[in-house]
Amino acid sequence: MKPRILASQLRCPSGTEALDVALKMNEANRLLNQKCIDLLQLKSGDSLLEIGPGNGAFVADIIKVAENISYTGLDWSDDMVVEAQRLNEYWVKQGRAQFQQGSSEHLPFATGLFNKVLTVHTLYFWEKPSDHLAQIRRVMKPAGLFCIAFGDSSFMKELPFVPYGFNLYDEAEACALLRSSGFRVVTTVHHQERGLSNTGDLVDKIINIIICEA
Ligand SMILES: C[S@@+](CC[C@H](N)C(=O)[O-])C[C@H]1O[C@@H](n2cnc3c(N)ncnc32)[C@H](O)[C@@H]1O
Repeated sequence: MKPRILASQLRCPSGTEALDVALKMNEANRLLNQKCIDLLQLKSGDSLLEIGPGNGAFVADIIKVAENISYTGLDWSDDMVVEAQRLNEYWVKQGRAQFQQGSSEHLPFATGLFNKVLTVHTLYFWEKPSDHLAQIRRVMKPAGLFCIAFGDSSFMKELPFVPYGFNLYDEAEACALLRSSGFRVVTTVHHQERGLSNTGDLVDKIINIIICEA
């Protein structure tokens, strides 16, 4: 796939390529997502919102951590919402998971609804990240935990699809952004992994995981 097309599919998987791109993302991002789920310290009764779950491949890993976790996934790709619902039909029927189309720029949820929020590899696509972060903080309960993970600019800038619409951040820039949006940074973790990129090439990934309190 040409870098420009891959970039637009990573931003918003859609059309005939979407399901294949989503499967490749699952493979490329599995370890990272599992680490983020661990860091969220999920417990019984938690209500979690995920921004940009793609096809929702890791939803069962979230729900199975403890009893009574309720999961909401919001993705701006219609095709991903449909596929996430299909792959997680069991959890949707149980009333434990729901998926909606929408953007974190205008979250369609009541204030103070969630005590955990997760988003992995989405920050690059946000035109005005402070608007998204303000909305995320609004829908969180006080002292709820927000986990945001993204590739460090030092590593991302080498990837061939990045010139086509990706905004890059290092840890310090993202922490500053989070603090100016009212979050308290609790911990930052550097996830390093030699693994497949979305291009199918083997790369040494440097990913920042930031855990903060609303
Ligand atoms: C690069 S993929 C990452 C998918 C998944 N989180 C993972 O780790 O493999 C980005 C996904 O987030 C969605 N997305 C990005 N920004 C979003 C936003 N602000 N609101 C809703 N969905 C968003 C895209 O449609 C896409 O499905």
